Amino acid sequence: MIVTIDGPAGAGKSSIAHQVASQLEFEFLDTGALYRTATLAAIRSGIELADQDALADFVSRLNIAWRDKAAWLDSEDVSELIRTPEVTESIRHLADVPAVRARLSELQRQIAKGRNIVTEGRDQGAEVFPHAECKVFLTASPKERAKRRMRQLADSGRYVTLEEVLTAQNQRDLEDRMRDVGRLRAADDAVVIKTDSMTPEQVMDEIVALVRVRLEQLDSID
Ligand code: DC
Repeated sequence: MIVTIDGPAGAGKSSIAHQVASQLEFEFLDTGALYRTATLAAIRSGIELADQDALADFVSRLNIAWRDKAAWLDSEDVSELIRTPEVTESIRHLADVPAVRARLSELQRQIAKGRNIVTEGRDQGAEVFPHAECKVFLTASPKERAKRRMRQLADSGRYVTLEEVLTAQNQRDLEDRMRDVGRLRAADDAVVIKTDSMTPEQVMDEIVALVRVRLEQLDSID
C-alpha cells in the first residue's frame, strides 16, 4: 500500500511522515532527499545549472538510491551533506527540468513498488503515485509554518527572525506553485488536513486512522 503525504515546506510533513510510517510499520521515502542528492552531485560536478539539457543528461546517468532511510550517491551515504543551504538554494534548477522530474519520479516508483510505504513530497499524490491507496495533503498558515521552521532552525543552532523565514518561505511557495512541472497541489482525492491548531501527535493519529480505515476497506474488497 502506498500512502502519500504532500504539502508545502513547514507544514510538518517530514517528521509526521516518519512517525506515521513507523507507527504503521511501513517503510518511508523522503522524495526531497532524492532531489537534494541529484543537486549535490550536480554542484560537485561543476555542471552549468542553468543548462537544462546538460542537467537532464547528467541526472539520467546518476546512481541514486534510497536505503535504510538514507540517501545514497553511488556507495556514499549523503544524507547529511544534502542538507546544506547551498544544496537547498540550487534544487530549483533541477526541480524545474521535466526530464529530471521524470527520472526521479521513475526512481520513486521503483523504490515503492510492491512495498507498504509512506512517501513524502510535493507531487506524490497528484503526479508520481496517482493510484496511491491513501493520499494526504498537509497545510498550515504561512505564519504558523514560518514559526515552526524558525524553531527547527533554532534547534540546530541557527537563529533567524520570523520575517527572514517568511520572506524565504514566500519565495519558495511561489516557486513551488508556479512551476510548470511538479507543481505543489493536492490531488483531487487527497484528504486535506490543516494543522495550525493541531499537535504533531494529533496529525499523526489522524493519518494513521485514515490509513487503517483504508486498509480495512481494501481487506473487505479482497
Ligand atoms: O522536502 P525538501 O525540503 O527536502 O525538498 C527540497 C526541494 O526539492 C523542494 O524545495 C522542492 C524539491 N522537491 C520536488 O520538487 N519534488 C519532490 N517530490 C520533493 C522535493
